[in-house]
Amino acid sequence: MIDFKSLRNDFPMLRNGIKMQGKPLVWLDNASTTFKPDCVLDAISNYYTHETSNSHRGDYDLCYNMDQKIAEARNTLAKLLNAESKEIVFTAGTTMSINLVAFGYGAKFLKEGDEILLTEAEHASNVLPWYKVCEMTGAVTKFIPLTKEGRLTAENLEKTIGPKTKIVAVAQVTNVLGYVTPIKELAAVAHKHGAILVVDGAQSAPHMKIDVKDLDCDFLSMSGHKMCGPTGIGVLYGKYDLLQKTDPFMTGGGMNARFNMCGKATYLDAPVKFEGGTVNLEGIIGLDAAVKYIMNIGLENINAHEEELKKYAVEQLEKTGNVTIYNKDSEAGIVTFNINGVFAQDGATFLNSKGIACRSGNHCAKILNDFLGTPATIRASFYFYTTKEDIDVLVDAVKHAKEEFLDAYF
Ligand code: ALA
Repeated sequence: MIDFKSLRNDFPMLRNGIKMQGKPLVWLDNASTTFKPDCVLDAISNYYTHETSNSHRGDYDLCYNMDQKIAEARNTLAKLLNAESKEIVFTAGTTMSINLVAFGYGAKFLKEGDEILLTEAEHASNVLPWYKVCEMTGAVTKFIPLTKEGRLTAENLEKTIGPKTKIVAVAQVTNVLGYVTPIKELAAVAHKHGAILVVDGAQSAPHMKIDVKDLDCDFLSMSGHKMCGPTGIGVLYGKYDLLQKTDPFMTGGGMNARFNMCGKATYLDAPVKFEGGTVNLEGIIGLDAAVKYIMNIGLENINAHEEELKKYAVEQLEKTGNVTIYNKDSEAGIVTFNINGVFAQDGATFLNSKGIACRSGNHCAKILNDFLGTPATIRASFYFYTTKEDIDVLVDAVKHAKEEFLDAYF
C-alpha cells in the first residue's frame, strides 16, 4: 500500500508552504505540468555541479560518462514503455515528437487524396502538424465521430476508415475530457486497412502503464514535464523499421555519418539520426530520474489512486448543485466543469483568489468546444500527490463561488 500523502515530502513545491494570493497553494493543473521531486532536482544539479560535459564528442572520461547516462536513460524509457532502447528518440516534448512523425514520415509518404484520421478531441499539437502536412502533400484530414459522451471507439474508426487512410492520429487520454482510448483495438482496425496508428501519449504516459508491444501502436509521443521531469524534454517511441524509414526533420552535428562538398550527406541510424545538435542533457538526466521515481511508485498504483480522486471530486462537486460537469464518467484524473452562471475564466480567476490553480479556456483543444456546446471550461487535473483535502478546498470554493464572485466583482 503506497502512502501517497507522504510522497508530498519529496516535492519542494508541496512541502515548502508555497502560497498563492496569500493562501496555501492547491495545485490542480497537473495535466498542464507537474511538480519535480528532489531526486530530479538533484540529478540535474549534479550534472551541472560535478558532471558537466557534452555527449558523443570527446575522448575523455566526462564525455564517456555522459554517453553512458544517455544510454541508461534510453533503457529506462524503453523499460517504461516495454520498447527496445533503439526505439526511443529524445525530443523536446510531445509537440516536437508529433511534428517529427508528421514531417519526417507523413510528408515523405503521403500522396494527394490520402487521408489522415483525427478526432474533435485532439490537442492542437495533434491537429496542426497534420494540417501543415496536408498543405504540403495534398492529403486531407477527416474526423472520426465521437460517441455522444465524447469517446472514441473502434466501431467509429471502422465506419470512417477507408482505402485512402494512411495515418490515424489520436490521443490515448484526451486532455479535456480524460477518456481512455482503446488503442489496441484501434491499432488492429488501422492495420487491417493498411494505415499506421500515431498515439499522443502526453496525458497517458504519466498516469497509466503503457506496453507499446501489446498495444501494437506505431508511434507514441510523450512529455517529461507532465511526469515529474524537466520541461523541454520528451520522447518519441516508434517501431524500429518505421523510425528507419522516417526522415530526420532536423539535421546537424551528431546525427550524420558523412557529408561532402557535392551536397551529399548520409545519416546515422535511428534513434540518433533524429537527435541533431547537442541534445538536452540536463533534460535527459532529469527525465531518467523522474521515470525511475514514478516506476518505483508503480503506474498501476498511480492510476488507481487518481481514479479514486476523480470519483470523489465528481461526487463532491455534484453535491454543491453549483456545477455542470462535462466528463463525469471518464477514467483519468481530470474533471472538466463550469460553475453555473459564471464564465470559465472568471471562475478560474475566483479559484485563484482561494489559492487554487486550475486551467480554464479551451485547453488547446479548440474544436472540442463546439462538441461540448460551451465556449470554455474549467479543468481540475490530479496527480499521485493530489489529496482529497485539495479537492475539498476546491469544492468549498465552488460552493460559495456565486455569492462571493458576484460580491467581489459586481
Ligand atoms: N497540453 C497541456 C494541457 O492540456 C498544456 O494543459
